[in-house]
Amino acid sequence: MAREWYKIYDSVIDSVCPDYKMGLEAVVNAIPSNAKNIVELGSGTGELTYRIAQTYPNTNIVGVDINIPLLDIAKYKSRSYGNVRLLNLDILGLDFAGFDTIVSGLVFHLLPQHYRDVILERMVSSQASAVVIFDRVKGETQEKEKTFLEYFAHNLQGKRLAQDLIEELIKESRINKPMKLSEQKKLFEENRFMLKILHQNPNHGFVTYGFYR
Ligand SMILES: C[S@@+](CC[C@H](N)C(=O)[O-])C[C@H]1O[C@@H](n2cnc3c(N)ncnc32)[C@H](O)[C@@H]1O
Repeated sequence: MAREWYKIYDSVIDSVCPDYKMGLEAVVNAIPSNAKNIVELGSGTGELTYRIAQTYPNTNIVGVDINIPLLDIAKYKSRSYGNVRLLNLDILGLDFAGFDTIVSGLVFHLLPQHYRDVILERMVSSQASAVVIFDRVKGETQEKEKTFLEYFAHNLQGKRLAQDLIEELIKESRINKPMKLSEQKKLFEENRFMLKILHQNPNHGFVTYGFYR
């Protein structure tokens, strides 16, 4: 994530990602009603974590993140929910055993391909019956990818953000390698999951989707 961004993350994320709240709500609403043990990958400042804790008080939620200052913010926000545990851990070091539901918001596009491939393999080999993700996905054609990036850059301009932050985010989004939905679909379907699209912004490439089995 862009340097120093965590300090202002909660106050700027709606500008950077206009679908943010809608995406998080879509994840919350897509969690199966029988979920018991939920893990959130890259829980950040805990915006998704506390929403899940609030909506499903009878579940246990474990949030995992490598960034300690972000975890501290998340801990503060979820302090009144006894069903939340936040761990300072790299997703790669996570043992998925025991979780029936895996959720994540705006994380996968940040991870290097080889990293992500390992994590996806572990998810499909786990006992989880639901994986719900909100993220920016790659356009299936180069043309579409170019349009996504143009919209993303356009969307940042004119917001009340520091110019150097805007430039850093645009640079970062060019380096990021969002996942193709079709590639994930293939892997998940091979492992008996079915894809369900829950929310989609055709302009920016932000999508909320779930895999269920
Ligand atoms: C863009 S933020 C999203 C935060 C939060 N999920 C949200 O929706 O607001 C990406 C988060 O992923 C975390 N992250 C990135 N790579 C990670 C890794 N390998 N293991 C754990 N967390 C990671 C970052 O520290 C950051 O909190």
